[in-house]
Amino acid sequence: MRMSPKPVQTFRDDFTYSNSPGAIARFPFPFPEDEYRYSVNIEPHVTPGPEGSVYEFLLDIDEHYLSEMAERDIVLKENPQRCLAMPHMDLACWDMIERCMQSLAADYPQHFSLTIDGDQWTWHNRLLNIHDSFTFGDSSTLPLPPMEYMGRQVQGDFALLDQRDGDLFLDAGIVTCPADWSLAFDAGMSFSEWHGPVPMAHEMGVFDRALKYLTAIPVGRPVRRLNWTLTVNARMDTSPETYPNWGTDRASVTADNVGEKVHLRVELQVLDRMPRSNALMFSIRTYLLSFDDLVTNPDWARRMHRVLKTLPPELVEYKGLGRYHDLAVEWLSRFDPAN
Ligand code: HEM
Repeated sequence: MRMSPKPVQTFRDDFTYSNSPGAIARFPFPFPEDEYRYSVNIEPHVTPGPEGSVYEFLLDIDEHYLSEMAERDIVLKENPQRCLAMPHMDLACWDMIERCMQSLAADYPQHFSLTIDGDQWTWHNRLLNIHDSFTFGDSSTLPLPPMEYMGRQVQGDFALLDQRDGDLFLDAGIVTCPADWSLAFDAGMSFSEWHGPVPMAHEMGVFDRALKYLTAIPVGRPVRRLNWTLTVNARMDTSPETYPNWGTDRASVTADNVGEKVHLRVELQVLDRMPRSNALMFSIRTYLLSFDDLVTNPDWARRMHRVLKTLPPELVEYKGLGRYHDLAVEWLSRFDPAN
């Protein structure tokens, strides 16, 4: 089903965020097996993917578009450091503008259009009522710096990785809905440095293999992977910078409110080579699903129970689930016939 953006809902305070039945049906449930372990789970992102699925296009625009753009505006006003681009990433930012505008206009012509006349570009975003003309490559002709300008019009967080010396460096991005990491802290780090806190995966060789794969991605052959965690309440912005606002939420989970409070948080991550700068564009599109909505699908409910029950303690700790992991497993057990 094609998703039309609905009026703004909130990811904070009164948490009015909700998923329609259509959004639940297309949720990217991330578990192919009953046990979850880290792996190099990268596959080609061939588009168009299945019609109406989150994999149909390079960028997925869904019913939460207006809500996510409103949330991004709040976060950027609170802390402008959530968007940054080092000076040498200017060309990569323009690569990103080109890739995003061209695919949005081609994939969602009812919402976006782009007219190109030499280096004179005209962009129309009907969802946000944006209509701008600018000179491609000249940042002074945009109303905002290029990363912020584009990032405020696409769902999900974005990073641009500079590739040099066979490694990737986190030198630009817009990150307003991270699963507990900070762009300002990680800026300038290499692939293994920013993955430093992740348990088990380094020893398993996951990051060495992934880096080899990523540095060889050619232009026009994007790849994707899914990552997941759990989040208490439908909160998009779980960043270290705002930890005081959400850290204590974890203690608010009780046996009676698991279904409503605990959300499966899935990131659809796409890596795409930029043609001029040779940077990699890394998009992190976050989907939230309450356990109440998740268990409307019996297969998902059973599998979620088994995955959480068998999750290694190191991952329970790293993903920040310690305070409510047992409660969640117990609550889900009623949906698992084998239990
Ligand atoms: C976690 C960034 C690609 C695997 C993370 C974290 C960041 C990050 C910032 C959080 C680390 C922390 O705790 O501070 C990125 C960026 C990528 C990228 C910018 C683009 C090149 C990959 C790839 C893999 C991967 C290709 C494939 C194996 C993981 C895993 C975690 C992680 C397993 C732990 C997630 C969890 O358990 O919740 N990544 N990553 N990452 N990343 Fe990546």
